[in-house]
Amino acid sequence: MPYQGLTTVEVEVEGRIAWVYLNRPEKKNAMNPKLHAEMLAVLEELEADSGIGCVVIGGRGGAFSAGQDLKEFFRDLSGDPVAQKKAQRNANDWRWHRLEVFDKPTIAMIEGVCIGGAFTQMIACDFAIAAEDATFCLSEINWGQIPGGLVTRVLTEALGYRDALDLCLTGRKFDGTEAAKLRLINEAVPAAELKARTRALAELLIGKDPEAYRATKHALRYVRNIPVREAEDYLAAKIGELRMRAGSGAQETAIRQFVDDKSYRPAESSYTSVSDKTK
Ligand code: COA
Repeated sequence: MPYQGLTTVEVEVEGRIAWVYLNRPEKKNAMNPKLHAEMLAVLEELEADSGIGCVVIGGRGGAFSAGQDLKEFFRDLSGDPVAQKKAQRNANDWRWHRLEVFDKPTIAMIEGVCIGGAFTQMIACDFAIAAEDATFCLSEINWGQIPGGLVTRVLTEALGYRDALDLCLTGRKFDGTEAAKLRLINEAVPAAELKARTRALAELLIGKDPEAYRATKHALRYVRNIPVREAEDYLAAKIGELRMRAGSGAQETAIRQFVDDKSYRPAESSYTSVSDKTK
């Protein structure tokens, strides 16, 4: 059985949804080096697993994550530069580099605390839904640190300048409702509805053409930081890649269904026939 033998992460497969839980509830799912290594391995498997259509990242024990483990990630590694480097690399790899352009839909499901380094994976996911009463905090300024790793950088992807400065410089707590107002997350829902709402979103995303979903995500991520002419060229090349990877004439079929057969209206429904091929 895949996804077995993990000690800091738990994976539950429900249909085509993989519920991935950080699993150190006794430490509010603070992230230690073991957890980073396990998450990297788990995401690699899930990305290649054709049975999986969407990955949800949450936490066990009613907490998303209290950020990096201040003891095991910082203090215990401070005398071991090799282990420190490896842990830092794993941490940034799964929380940003892998998730940012993950081949499949990803959703962060946030309840309880979401602190410091945990912002990285929350922002990297395609969608983030939180309980209204979740607690968010960039606590670093409160203990003489800066939001390091990649936190400060990825925050600028998600927030405006004033809000990013406010949260980093005050280290204040805020709840899920405010996180939604800031657009740090997509929406806040009552805690009792969090899982059902996340499942409904996951099912919606699984219904999209998986190759078009992947290409759209890449396009959005990458064109943000390149000039217009290069973006134009990148997008043209990306459409070529999409045609090659999809390999099924999906676009032509959809256009024929709309123009000739009049059996399909793109603005009113998802084109679902292509997604079947990855099941
Ligand atoms: N690193 C290591 N251990 C942590 C941790 C972290 N980031 N966050 C929580 N824990 C541990 C606590 O030390 C405690 O362990 P213990 O039972 O062995 O003493 C356990 O998790 C439960 O935490 P506790 O503080 O008792 O729970 P709480 O509900 O009162 O408070 C927090 C929860 C998250 C608000 C509080 O623990 C906290 O401020 N943690 C630090 C968060 C932080 O600044 N992270 C930034 C890292 S980038």
